[in-house]
Amino acid sequence: MNHSKVEKNITLMAILIAVVISIGGLVEIVPLMFQAQVVEPAEGVEPYDPLALAGRAVYVNEGCYNCHSQMIRPLRAETERYGPYSLAGESVYDRPFQWGSKRTGPDLARVGGRYSDEWQRIHLINPRDVVPESNMPGYPWLEDRMVDPNLVERRMRVLRRLGDPYTEEDFESIEDMVLGKTEMDAIIHYLQGLGTAQAQER
Ligand code: HEC
Repeated sequence: MNHSKVEKNITLMAILIAVVISIGGLVEIVPLMFQAQVVEPAEGVEPYDPLALAGRAVYVNEGCYNCHSQMIRPLRAETERYGPYSLAGESVYDRPFQWGSKRTGPDLARVGGRYSDEWQRIHLINPRDVVPESNMPGYPWLEDRMVDPNLVERRMRVLRRLGDPYTEEDFESIEDMVLGKTEMDAIIHYLQGLGTAQAQER
């Protein structure tokens, strides 16, 4: 009897569908927010050091995520090509995360250490010098732009407020680490660190 009422009233049915889906969603999503596996760093994963933080900002500003993901799915084709699949605990210091969904180029979650710094530099200036068939754009201007220590410090303060465990020593190390460095140095340092904490583990 009640059921036929719902079937004949599309508005009521829409509301009830929304209620059911919301409950289902909450049951799946809310526990994730409290699971240690998801909200705590995976073993060996540390907050980005000042130069890596600057490099990460370059990565985001230049839109590298438009062509590169940083998330290896637990599928054989992916783990054989890129290495061990990504864990949620590897991304806890990524705000915002760079998982991405567009792969014009390869996944970069474990690219750290795969090439030399020099290869990365040449590749970023003009990819075709090392990969003739590449359609990745060059980023030669990164060589001319300097990293601003004040911006790195502000970034770190915000991250600390959000809970990243930066210490006073980390703040004191900013000048030493980034002064005189170009955006090119910073992004190479960032790329060379990607996935290195976990890569050996599994
Ligand atoms: C228009 C798409 C596009 C954009 C934007 C782009 N890339 Fe690429 N990238 C590619 C393609 C395609 C390849 C594969 C060919 C090659 O190695 O150049 C690649 C390869 C790479 C590789 C080598 C990966 C490997 O495992 O061999 C790195 C590192 C890389 N890109 C970094 C970057 C960074 C950093 C940026 C931003 C500054 C960027 N890319 C922007 C398309 C792109």
